[in-house]
Formats: sequence, structure tokens, C-alpha cells
Amino acid sequence: MFDKLLYIETFGCQMNVNDSERIVSMLAELGYAPTNEASAADMILLNTCSVRGGAEEKVYRRLANLRIYKRDGKKQIIAVGGCVAQQEGEELLRKLPYLDLVIGTHNLHLLPDMVRGAERGERRSETTFIDNEQRLDLFPSIKGESRLSRFVTVMQGCDNFCSYCIVPYVRGREISRRSADILKEITQLAEEGVKEVILLGQNVNSYGLNTEHEPSFPELIRLVAKIDGIERIRFTTSHPKDMSDELIACFADVPKLSGQIHLPAQSGSDSVLKAMKRGYSRSSYLEKIHKLKAIRPDIVITGDIIVGFPGESDEDFEQTLSLMEEVRYIDIFSFVYSPRPGTKAAELSDDLPKAVKMARLDRLMELQRHHTRDISKAYVGTVMSVLVEGEGRLPGQISGKGEIGRIVNFPGDTSLIGTFVDVKITKAYPNSFLGELL
Ligand code: SAH
Ligand code: SF4
Ligand code: F3S
Repeated sequence: MFDKLLYIETFGCQMNVNDSERIVSMLAELGYAPTNEASAADMILLNTCSVRGGAEEKVYRRLANLRIYKRDGKKQIIAVGGCVAQQEGEELLRKLPYLDLVIGTHNLHLLPDMVRGAERGERRSETTFIDNEQRLDLFPSIKGESRLSRFVTVMQGCDNFCSYCIVPYVRGREISRRSADILKEITQLAEEGVKEVILLGQNVNSYGLNTEHEPSFPELIRLVAKIDGIERIRFTTSHPKDMSDELIACFADVPKLSGQIHLPAQSGSDSVLKAMKRGYSRSSYLEKIHKLKAIRPDIVITGDIIVGFPGESDEDFEQTLSLMEEVRYIDIFSFVYSPRPGTKAAELSDDLPKAVKMARLDRLMELQRHHTRDISKAYVGTVMSVLVEGEGRLPGQISGKGEIGRIVNFPGDTSLIGTFVDVKITKAYPNSFLGELL
């Protein structure tokens, strides 16, 4: 049934990873099998991200490289999807004569039709945002190879308009999926053997806030926890301003809820937070962290930080470092601020020299390396419940994630894949643990 090959490259966040999985399963019905070799592919799709600068240029460069393959006379469909596609639309078709398809973030359902057209030589761009009624029926539910851990989309889009961020412009308004659909999908996943679900959205903890008949996010978590077979629940990403006491309470009394939370602060300075339009202060962020730690002392926190936001002074930056000292993240993603066209922050004057921003990033990363090392070292000698997901890094090893979301490699038999086992941690690496089976 497969007579064609599809090559996809995915950039950016988990939304894009999910969309790519969905594209693979949609195009399988048209006879496309996935391949890792662009040169052999009948169709090439770049699923793009535009959250930081240089995104468009990166896409142009990558396409220019891939196009080498198209020159050998064979017809190859070239497509761009994701957030750069959403932003640039028709413009991409105009600029790149060899490009066949541009598919926006709300238009994946049109892809099969677009690909059939492209097979006949048609060029097409679809980037219209669709209305919420229709979107409710188009929420991605992924069919694919069976796995133990799966992302399940619970909401899409974002209404927060943080002043630096392009996401609301490229993913559209926030919409919560019907809880009935979410629970049905997770029940089905559990029946297929899935043990862990990661509830996915740009801002999952505002789930249900704009709907009349849906549960709140904490209520949704409790409903998911009731599903037999699902042993562990995570979620990503949360916005600190929507981190309610009810949600914090879940960490105390929903045992299936993982003991790790990603709570991006972005900055530790009140004036920068204000300019970022984040909707919380340093002290209210820290108060939430303290509540989480009080209710679940072993909770592990990860986050995102932006350095060099326009107007960030040395003092502001010191505030960010001191926030990190207070929170003690096990890990962070840190970025140098990058202006995005169309966002509010792009209009601010940004006269901080690049070298200063880079020096700040270096200091911040150095501090984080210390924290990561110290926090992970403290796990040596402790016992973790690990969901064994596959073979480990070295021969004879198996591996999986512990409650805190870190990979643990340990000697063991592959027959344990799919089960939870207790593992004693013997060594901490920067991104993983080594352990032994108990
Ligand atoms: N919805 C998520 C993540 C969005 S993008 C959230 O709100 O947490 C992921 C991260 O990219 C952000 O948390 C932020 O740290 C970073 N980011 C977004 N826009 C950026 C920009 N213009 N420059 C630098 N980093 C940015
Ligand atoms: Fe971007 Fe802010 Fe929305 Fe996150 S919450 S996606 S940072 S606008
Ligand atoms: Fe990037 Fe779009 Fe995700 S801009 S971070 S792929 S929502």
C-alpha cells in the first residue's frame, strides 16, 4: 500500500512534534511511508518554528540544501508547515519557485487534498485560522506506533501575548478541547498499553477557563487519574499566573501526578516581568514555588529564562540569578532575547550590546550547571520508580524515566519494558542517571 516516501524535519516545540506524527499518519493513507533519507523522498516537509529570530533564514537555507536532491529530474513535492509557514504564507511560494505547499498551523486537515493537488503539479498555500467550533472537531488525536508514554493535546493556542512572544500570532487563540474527547482518547491509549500521558498545550493550566461546561485543569487531572492503566500523569507547559491553589493541591493528593513541574519564570526582576507582560511578580512566582515545595517537598522544578530583554539592567539580571538560587531548578532552558516581528517587545529600543547578553547567558548557564549537578547528586543512593521504555545507552542496559522525568539507564532485561521497576540511583550525569535494579 506504500508506494511513496515522505521525509519530515521537525523544529520547535512538542506541538510541532505532535503535528508531524499526525502528518505521517494522514499521509500514510495516501501511500506515503516515512523515510530518513531526503534524497529518496517523494515528498519533503519542513515543520518549522519561529519562536526565535533567524527562523525564516534557517528554513530558506535548509530548503536550498534539500533542493539539491530535486535536481535529478525526479518530481519531489516540497512543503513547509508549522509556524514559519503560518507567518509567511503565500510569500514563501512567491519567494521560492520550487516550493509546492505551504500549510499553516490550523490547516493540517487540508493536507491530504493539498498533496493530491501537488502530485498533479498544483502549488497551494493555506494559512487561514479556522473558527473555534470547527477546531473542536479537529483536535489532533494521534494514531501511531504503540508506545508507553504519549502526549495528549488538551488545549491549543495562547491568549497571553507575552510581549516578546510570537506564539499567539502563529498558533491563534486559546481553545480548550472537549474533556469528553480527551478522556476518551486517554482511555483508548490505556487500552493500547500506554502507561504515562503528558497533557499538552501552550498553557495547559488555563484549560477550561474560557468554557462553560468543561472542568478546570485540576479537575481534568483528577478525571485522567481515574483511568485504569494510566499510572503516571505529567503536563506541559504551565503559566505561573494560572497556577492555582487547586492545581498545587493535586501534587499532594493525586499520586499519579509526576513530581516534576515546568514553570517558566522568564526573569526574576519585577520591572522586566512587567515589560514582558507576564502577569505575575517575582514574589507571587516564588510564593507558588514555596507552596509547591511545602505540599510536595521532593518536587523537581524546571523552567525557561530569557536574558537580555530590552532594558534589562545588571541589577535586573542579578535578580534573575537570585531567583534561580531561591527556586533551585534541576534544569532550565535559557535563551537570549530575540526580537520577533509583530510583537510588542520588538518596538522597544534594545541597546544592550550582544556581548553583554552573551556574557549574562554564560553566567546563568554556569550557575545552572552547578544547581543541576548538586540537585542530581543528591539522588545518588535513593530509589526511583522507573517506567522502563526501551534499551539503554549501553549494551545490556535498559532505560526509562523516573518520577522526576529524568532518564535512568541501568543493567536489565528487555522483558521488563512496559513495567514499573524500582531502581537505586548509583551515579548522576548532567542529563541522566545510572542505576541498578532492586
Ligand atoms: N507556552 C510556553 C512556551 C512558549 S515558547 C510558555 O509560555 O511557557 C518557549 C520558550 O521560548 C519561552 O518560555 C521563552 O522562554 C522562549 N521564548 C519565547 N519567545 C522568545 C523570544 N522572542 N526570544 C527569546 N526567547 C523566547
Ligand atoms: Fe508565548 Fe507567553 Fe503564550 Fe507562552 S504564555 S506561548 S510565552 S505568549
Ligand atoms: Fe515554535 Fe511554533 Fe512551537 S513558534 S515553539 S513551533 S508553537
